[in-house]
Amino acid sequence: MNYSIHFVFLILCSKCIAVNIKRLDVPALVELGTESVILDCDYSTGETPGPGLVIKWFFNGSTGLVYQWIPPLQPQFIGLLKGKVDPNFKISDEPLQAYRAIKIINPGTHLSGNYTCVVSTFIAEDSQTRSMLVYSPGKSFHFQQEKKYVFLVTLRCVAEYLYPRPVLTILSKGKPLERALTDMRMDSWGMYTVETTALVHDDDVTSPWEEFVCVLSLPLANYTSNRTTVYYPGLMPTHSASIEVKKPQEHQASSKTILHTFFTMSIDLFCFILSRRYQHAV
Ligand SMILES: *[C@@H]1O[C@H](CO)[C@@H](O)[C@H](O)[C@H]1NC(C)=O
Ligand SMILES: *[C@@H]1O[C@H](CO)[C@@H](O)[C@H](O)[C@H]1NC(C)=O
Ligand SMILES: *[C@@H]1O[C@H](CO)[C@@H](O)[C@H](O)[C@H]1NC(C)=O
Ligand SMILES: *[C@@H]1O[C@H](CO)[C@@H](O)[C@H](O)[C@H]1NC(C)=O
Repeated sequence: MNYSIHFVFLILCSKCIAVNIKRLDVPALVELGTESVILDCDYSTGETPGPGLVIKWFFNGSTGLVYQWIPPLQPQFIGLLKGKVDPNFKISDEPLQAYRAIKIINPGTHLSGNYTCVVSTFIAEDSQTRSMLVYSPGKSFHFQQEKKYVFLVTLRCVAEYLYPRPVLTILSKGKPLERALTDMRMDSWGMYTVETTALVHDDDVTSPWEEFVCVLSLPLANYTSNRTTVYYPGLMPTHSASIEVKKPQEHQASSKTILHTFFTMSIDLFCFILSRRYQHAV
């Protein structure tokens, strides 16, 4: 056959055997602890898919092959996904579609990243990428006050076992406290623990009491949560340092213990007054 006929043949043929990914279903956000997720690569092949049909999944770029299926063979799970998927999961009864999807059991945060599905035959190929973030809203989230000195309170907000990088802010009357200090740590699993503390002076509380809000957010995961604590200026220091005050009733109960601890705190108090005097003197 001459060259132009060959050319026309190729064009016609590429129509009937083209591969085309119609939809790549990868959940953008998955909360840690979710039982399973399904990543589905829904493709169409022409009437006859042509020889060499292969479905591959990659993680974080073209070097991270995690899945390969050559119908009618059994699918193979490689690397990152080994032992983390349901090997018998079938999304369709059609022999050329059955194993196009992956069912990941109990996904961990380390499976966050870009998933690329590549469908190819010997002459055609299509690919699409979507990202999935497995986030952890944390195991504990506490906002407490520590009353060690008169006129001052330390607000301490702690959240643990978070992913990805969290932001923790203490709000006073809706605005972040400027002098708050934040300490962020990451463990060997990549999980974050974050702690924000702020020292508030009674003079800065202009009402009989103030409700402070600690806001935890995971910006990349669109996640936000908060805790509150109510502070009453003029409270005497408590020896046990840490009380969590949520309701006025609780606050009254804790103030009963104050008399008992008052005298044991007098040395602290004395030092504090000395330091205030000293500040005023300079
Ligand atoms: C994941 O995809 C995003 C957007 O497509 C890209 O900016 C990022 O570099 C990719 N990350 C990796 C590890 O491939
Ligand atoms: C994959 O890429 C994401 C960013 O897209 C990155 O956060 C993650 O650490 C990467 N995972 C691995 C195992 O390389
Ligand atoms: C986060 O929320 C915004 C607004 O609701 C939305 O437009 C965006 O797509 C969300 N991001 C993710 C990753 O779901
Ligand atoms: C705290 O969370 C509640 C619901 O849980 C919400 O209604 C409120 O707006 C949040 N407050 C702040 C300051 O984000």
